[in-house]
Amino acid sequence: MKTLVTYSTLTGNTKKVAEAVFEAVSGEKEIMDIKNVNGAEGYDRIFVGYWVDKGEANEEAKKFMESLKDKKVGTFGTLGAYPDSEHAQKCVEKISDALRVNNNTVIAEFICQGAIDPRIIETMRKMGSNGPHAPTPEREARWAEAAKHPNEADFAAAKEIFGKLD
Ligand SMILES: Cc1cc2nc3c(=O)[nH]c(=O)nc-3n(C[C@H](O)[C@H](O)[C@H](O)COP(=O)(O)O)c2cc1C
Repeated sequence: MKTLVTYSTLTGNTKKVAEAVFEAVSGEKEIMDIKNVNGAEGYDRIFVGYWVDKGEANEEAKKFMESLKDKKVGTFGTLGAYPDSEHAQKCVEKISDALRVNNNTVIAEFICQGAIDPRIIETMRKMGSNGPHAPTPEREARWAEAAKHPNEADFAAAKEIFGKLD
């Protein structure tokens, strides 16, 4: 049983979760930035990490997942929204549905918050109260919470999910 843990990341959040997943996985395993992955041949399981971009998996991760067929796949992601929000749950569902279209079996799913690039937050604040991301107190609180993630509890939760797979 050989497992590939791969991830796409801009600011490092998803890489951190990937490292936790990798630590928990049993059997023969490799971890690789998605940029360096040369196909899925030779692996029995592929665990893919993505960050959420405009409500879906970021383009690089999405492209890779679209290349997978007839595989056992686990997904893990990070996003700015709360993981129990409808936004987060819809992302996870959309990703798993797309994988199933290509006859993959989704054996694990995990998503947690990840700090939003401060430059993005500044831009949203500058767009002011009329923009789609207006800095309301509720949003400011969510951004502040995201800034603390992924944290040890997130790593433990990811390990729990990916560590118990056989
Ligand atoms: C261009 C861009 C678009 C984003 N879109 C969303 C989004 O639609 N929903 C969300 O919850 N978070 C969104 N985020 C927040 C990121 O998904 C989050 O900060 C993530 O943890 C970044 O992961 P990384 O550090 O691995 O790059 C966005 C971030 C960027 C930079």
